[in-house]
Amino acid sequence: MSGVVKTEIRDGLAILTIDNPPVNALSIDVRRGLSQAIENVSEDTQVRAVVITCAGCTFISGADIREFGKPFQPPNLTDVISQIDGCNKPVIAAIHGVALGGGLEVALGCHFRIATKDAKLGLPEVKLGLLPGAGGTQRLPRAVGPELAVRMIVSGEPISAAAALNSGLIDEVVDGSAATGGETFARTILAEEIPIRRLRDDDSKLLAARNNRTIFTDAVAAVNKKNRGLEALVAAADAVGWSLDVPFDEALTRESNVFLKLMSGDQSKAQRYAFFAERDAAKIVDLPAGTEPRRVATVAIIGAGTMGGGIAMSFANAGVPVTLLELAQEPLDHGLNIIRKNYEATAARSGLSADWVSERLNLINGAVGLAEAKDADLVVEAVYETMVVKLDVFKKLDQLAKPGAVLATNTSFLDVNKIGAATKRPQDVIGLHFFSPANVMRLCEIVRGYKTAPDVLATGVAIARRIGKVPAVVGVCHGFVGNRMLMVRGKQADKLLLEGVLPQQVDAVITKFGMPMGPFAMLDLAGLDIGWRSRKDRGETSEIEDALCEAGRFGQKTGKGYYRYEQGSRSPLPDTDVENLITNTWARRGLKRRAVSDDEILDRILYPMINEGARILEEGIAARASDIDVVWLYGYGWPIHRGGPMYYADEIGLAQVAERLSYQSAIDGDASLRPSSLLSRLASSGQTFASFNRSRDH
Ligand code: 3HC
Repeated sequence: MSGVVKTEIRDGLAILTIDNPPVNALSIDVRRGLSQAIENVSEDTQVRAVVITCAGCTFISGADIREFGKPFQPPNLTDVISQIDGCNKPVIAAIHGVALGGGLEVALGCHFRIATKDAKLGLPEVKLGLLPGAGGTQRLPRAVGPELAVRMIVSGEPISAAAALNSGLIDEVVDGSAATGGETFARTILAEEIPIRRLRDDDSKLLAARNNRTIFTDAVAAVNKKNRGLEALVAAADAVGWSLDVPFDEALTRESNVFLKLMSGDQSKAQRYAFFAERDAAKIVDLPAGTEPRRVATVAIIGAGTMGGGIAMSFANAGVPVTLLELAQEPLDHGLNIIRKNYEATAARSGLSADWVSERLNLINGAVGLAEAKDADLVVEAVYETMVVKLDVFKKLDQLAKPGAVLATNTSFLDVNKIGAATKRPQDVIGLHFFSPANVMRLCEIVRGYKTAPDVLATGVAIARRIGKVPAVVGVCHGFVGNRMLMVRGKQADKLLLEGVLPQQVDAVITKFGMPMGPFAMLDLAGLDIGWRSRKDRGETSEIEDALCEAGRFGQKTGKGYYRYEQGSRSPLPDTDVENLITNTWARRGLKRRAVSDDEILDRILYPMINEGARILEEGIAARASDIDVVWLYGYGWPIHRGGPMYYADEIGLAQVAERLSYQSAIDGDASLRPSSLLSRLASSGQTFASFNRSRDH
């Protein structure tokens, strides 16, 4: 008996319990243990049925991702599952927590499946740049039909136990523990002499799509609509298609070959990197041992504008009640109304009930004034992005908030130390920088001030995770990690306009790279007037953008910016007026237009950002290069299959990045483009950002 798979025989039933913390991944030991246990119980004449269940907080979370890319050790998962499938006694998967990837594939290889109410089941392999590689692409369509199967596999999103029951993925939802539920179910199977059901032999749910292929192709087209270059999505949809016309065993061989091919490819490598980067970012490097987050049961959010409303929705979505505070009734009602409309629109789009909407709305209360913040464990300030206004709010909060409350600012640029210093409790002050739209974007920069207490920092990370955000701890500087690099990108994009490139060319290069939108379309979305006003305050100019603003072109909100927008549409359309404005600028300045290649545009945009990332790393604003990648992946839509800017740089080679920057710096006479000292050092010694360890190398 393997240490991680235990067999207990009770009254004719074999209970196989996998115990491989933290998430029961299918490591080599688990595969061996399962294989051995199935062999044993198959031969044991006392055993009449088998239940596979897990100890700890979850059923099997999938293959052990840490083993990927390392030399393979048998048995492979497909063979273990075939063994389960071929077992001559009924095998029941008893699921709690999640059954993901290889975990769901094991369950699909069992003859019956039961799950607890809160369980979730899915095949998220595409998120790692893979497809299900142990029969999932063939057994899931046989369990739920090819349309739902392709939706689940290509989106990678799990479904609830109730949805699984509805679709035929599981046979029963149980109250109480999965193991007890599984045991009861097994005894019923035996008592009622229900025959073994092997999905591999059951094509009943494939028949409709076999007769009318468009049922499947329409489903594929729908799920692949937004694919921006992810090869796993296409491969996964193809593989599900084989269930319609390729014999089961041959399809399994094909699936396994494609799985191995994807695993050795660049995209999956980057996506696996991103998986671990995301988890690492939640680990605070120098947190004293034993630091516990403060308890947060009540939350107040100051400001019912776009950000405050989005943040309130994020809390409500996670079931955390919030009070939204505004200066007066009118803006409060306006903010609450927008929240209601947002929820109603989501419900209409996704077929959710009115109860779904009211459940969330009931968690968001409104109040005028700051007084209601007095009982909150966490206060998030999301008022106008001006230091004077923020300082005023924090001075008032200092008088009002209960001792030990965490006071957070949602500033995107401002000095959190200065904000903390406005209070007599800077140790309780932290930045929680959400990204717009805050109810959608997953990133939350956790900004640590010089005086922020360790348990307040831990609270920031814990609360972000609790509401489903990806936290990344950053230090104080203008724009923190994300916006600081974004400003560098903006400056380079502006420069390109003055060399003969049009906004649509820059944006096309960036979207082809995989970002959801280019820098100019993004400016139009955010509103050009914001930057224009702040430039005026600082006495700065930006020739083309200022001219657009002077012409009343503030972006999407005025239907015109760098692009024009048709009524009710958010699609940017190139505009000859803008082209004329840019060409006139060239003429006025006596500039000679030059043809700039797409490759040059990409390098000129990305390399300076990477250089800024290196400075951020060197200054200790980010603790790890991968934290910077996490900021860009989850805050700005950096394509996941390119890992993040620092990962991308490591893949290209830092010597090339440094050399190109030196060249451009000389041409432009721009010292800010010179490779930072860290980049130069790593480049000249053939190292990578990933290898840089601040505590060791600094
Ligand atoms: N393999 C190895 N380690 C894993 C893992 C896996 N499949 N899943 C999670 N872990 C590790 C994490 O890295 C983390 O380690 P750390 O503490 O050292 O950082 C730890 O388990 C806890 O993970 P989380 O912090 O993510 O814990 P949560 O409770 O928030 O989430 C989870 C748990 C929902 C299981 C989430 O970890 C998850 O989604 N895991 C990945 C699931 C997945 O992608 N499965 C498919 C794998 S590929 C596959 O199965 C191929 C097959 O088709 C052949």
